Amino acid sequence: MGADWSVDSWRSKPIRQVPHYPDEAKLHDAEAALRAFPPLVFAGEARNLKDRLAKVADGRAFLLQGGDCAESFAEFTANNIRDTFKVLLQMAVVLTFAGSCPIVKVGRMAGQFAKPRSSPNETVDGVELPSYRGDIVNGIEFDAARRAPDPDRLVRAYNQSAATLNLLRAFAQGGFADLHQLHRWNLDFVADSPLGEQYKELSDRIGETLSFMEACGLTGNSVSQIRETEFYTSHEALLLWYEEALTRQDSLTDQWYDCSAHMLWIGDRTRQPDGAHVEFLRGVKNPIGIKCGPTSNPDELLRVIDILNPDNEPGRMTLVVRMGHDKVLEHLPPLIRAIEREGRIVVWSCDPMHGNTIKAESGYKTRPFDRILIEVRRFFEVHEAEGSYAGGVHIEMTGQDVTECMGGAQAISDTALSERYHTHCDPRLNASQSLELSFLIADFLKAQRVGNRKSIAAAS
Ligand code: TRP
Ligand code: MN
Repeated sequence: MGADWSVDSWRSKPIRQVPHYPDEAKLHDAEAALRAFPPLVFAGEARNLKDRLAKVADGRAFLLQGGDCAESFAEFTANNIRDTFKVLLQMAVVLTFAGSCPIVKVGRMAGQFAKPRSSPNETVDGVELPSYRGDIVNGIEFDAARRAPDPDRLVRAYNQSAATLNLLRAFAQGGFADLHQLHRWNLDFVADSPLGEQYKELSDRIGETLSFMEACGLTGNSVSQIRETEFYTSHEALLLWYEEALTRQDSLTDQWYDCSAHMLWIGDRTRQPDGAHVEFLRGVKNPIGIKCGPTSNPDELLRVIDILNPDNEPGRMTLVVRMGHDKVLEHLPPLIRAIEREGRIVVWSCDPMHGNTIKAESGYKTRPFDRILIEVRRFFEVHEAEGSYAGGVHIEMTGQDVTECMGGAQAISDTALSERYHTHCDPRLNASQSLELSFLIADFLKAQRVGNRKSIAAAS
């Protein structure tokens, strides 16, 4: 960390994608309230995640990161949290089994509220109002009072995050994530589908393995790894007033940690080397992600990495590649070559969602499932060709039975999108599509780990 960094040094840098708060006094009050609240995560946990990610960078584990595009105040219920968590567990168990390697599980949960927007304002029927920037900033309803950025929402988002994280910790360690429960993670509307069947077969096989191990004396009582899982949280570090207020100095190491989540990432629109977001994150010790879109150029990426990770610490940097199915073959190889040439240690993760968003004929913003699959496949193929390790996926998904992305085993059509289109921002994979995707990734992961050339093309 440069000596000139402080929790608020970002304030003197050019900043993009944040709201203008009309009432400054109210903003100060909200910041003071947050500063007085307990941290949501403990620095030691962020260090553990960094260790896990260092293993991923080294090709010995795989990262699964997923959750809502944007969490919302309206959809904050125990069932929603539980169902998203179930799907992540299902995906993780499929990948663990196929890849025979540890899966690092990270939710876009308990803090993923703030959204960057393509335009600061939105005009409807001649009326211009501030764009919706996520429930932590303003309301989605198109009226002047709701769209005004309101600092009280920072506190509400903190409280919701605390309650969400509390439940996730309980699920991860209290028995819900016990491998003996894996058939219960199948959601009702998935169970009857071909994917549900495929999942059931896999759970039966794992069940047999567990019985065998139990007969040998290895039970959930004696081995906590069978009974529990590690689950980490992450979100885009966009709204820096919130992040600053939750940044604390660790009493064990004197290092600064952003204790709003274990891992934070910088968006594709806020990754300028001299901008406020890079300035803020360079001083905190959490694992950091950078979203890399088609406009990422190798030199600028290396500059940002030098700023964020000057000592090239393994596990610190995750590059989340979101090119689009039609651009990944062209734009990813130059990034990989630059990183390899300079000897930078990174986790390569694939976000097959954000580069594949289209407007359907019906007018809905959607993502065709086949394009998502193509991008993942090409991501693995490029890494195989370059001799690097495809280390993870980053997806927007939910445990709810929504109709937001087209295609998949349920063959959701354009006209069906309107049936259950609930997202507050981008279209998410539903539980069935997420599970389907995990079986495909499992094939690629297995092929990669076997290290058999041309095997990825042959897989699935
Ligand atoms: N503790 C191991 C892990 O987290 C095994 C495990 C327990 C697990 N519960 C799980 C794996 C749920 C995937 C999903 O990897
Ligand atoms: Mn999104």
